[in-house]
Amino acid sequence: MLVDNHGRKINYLRLAVTDRCNLRCFYCMPEDGLNWLSRKELMTYEEMLQSCALLVKMGIEKIRITGGEPFVRKDLMKLLKALSDLQGLRELTITTNGVLTAPFVPELKKIGIHSINLSLDTLDANRFFTITRRDEFGKVIETLEQLLKHDIEVKINAVVMDGKNTQDIIPLVELTKELPVSVRFIEEMPFNGDGHVYTGLQWDYIRILDEIKDKYPSIEKLADPIGSTSYNYHIPGHKGSIGIIAAYSRTFCGTCNRIRITPQGELKTCLYDGGVLNIKDLMRSGINVDDLQIKLLDAFGHRAKDGWEAEQNRNVNAPAHESMATIGG
Ligand code: 5AD
Ligand code: SF4
Repeated sequence: MLVDNHGRKINYLRLAVTDRCNLRCFYCMPEDGLNWLSRKELMTYEEMLQSCALLVKMGIEKIRITGGEPFVRKDLMKLLKALSDLQGLRELTITTNGVLTAPFVPELKKIGIHSINLSLDTLDANRFFTITRRDEFGKVIETLEQLLKHDIEVKINAVVMDGKNTQDIIPLVELTKELPVSVRFIEEMPFNGDGHVYTGLQWDYIRILDEIKDKYPSIEKLADPIGSTSYNYHIPGHKGSIGIIAAYSRTFCGTCNRIRITPQGELKTCLYDGGVLNIKDLMRSGINVDDLQIKLLDAFGHRAKDGWEAEQNRNVNAPAHESMATIGG
């Protein structure tokens, strides 16, 4: 079992396979996209597999594939298939924007993926276009339908943005009436790739909950699973559930069980840190597995206690304004 210097179990890896995306969500990246990484800068699938195999051996039990948009990377199914065969891995999941995902759903089911996070901030096609700057709402809904049809558990991630989609909070909650989905509202974080000036958080988790309670006073608190980043709720009579993620307020750091690997192979032991070790560079310099393991253990033994400390420890020249697409969500 992997335990960090604050006594927290580490068993969850978020692996970002690309920084590229076919949407341009304004809270994530500028309209022109980012300075995309070259192929050489990206971890290869082989390097990812080797890192994952080692980390699973060390105690990682769950891997989530993120991006950018994972399905934008060529042959993603090959990587997923290989990861799904890793001995000791208990759960493999994906976070996707759903634009390219629908045709892959039967195959995902076949390789044992039973839960997917779908990013969807609005149920209105026009607002979808305003937020993502792309006209792909229909494809995302198609993915949602496919996932439900194939009995894959769906969590919908909706970032709550002042003046952009707060009118969607109630319609998204209503979705849980007939559909067995978990809708999770996420506080907006300052990771927009400098796409817009971050003006401070208007909608924190308390305000989001108040908005829902106002319409649904009967809302009930559910027990939160260990290591969960969301506060979970249920409305009596609804098939689905609701989650609120205090991603900016950082209320969950005390039980944080996760680490991240960015598309360029940088290990992050906190969402808010600037990267603590480059796994890809070490591998390419010919490090052997035992020495890599020692370096990883050292990084896990020096984790910041929370996102505030991690942010403070960052190089002053690299403030936390990178894009979510280069962090890995
Ligand atoms: N703030 C909050 N959530 C964000 N995401 C991307 N950028 C931000 C941000 N600045 C979300 C995406 C996706 C998840 C991985 O992170 O919507 O669902
Ligand atoms: Fe793409 Fe996700 Fe960023 Fe939107 S939030 S631009 S879907 S990576």
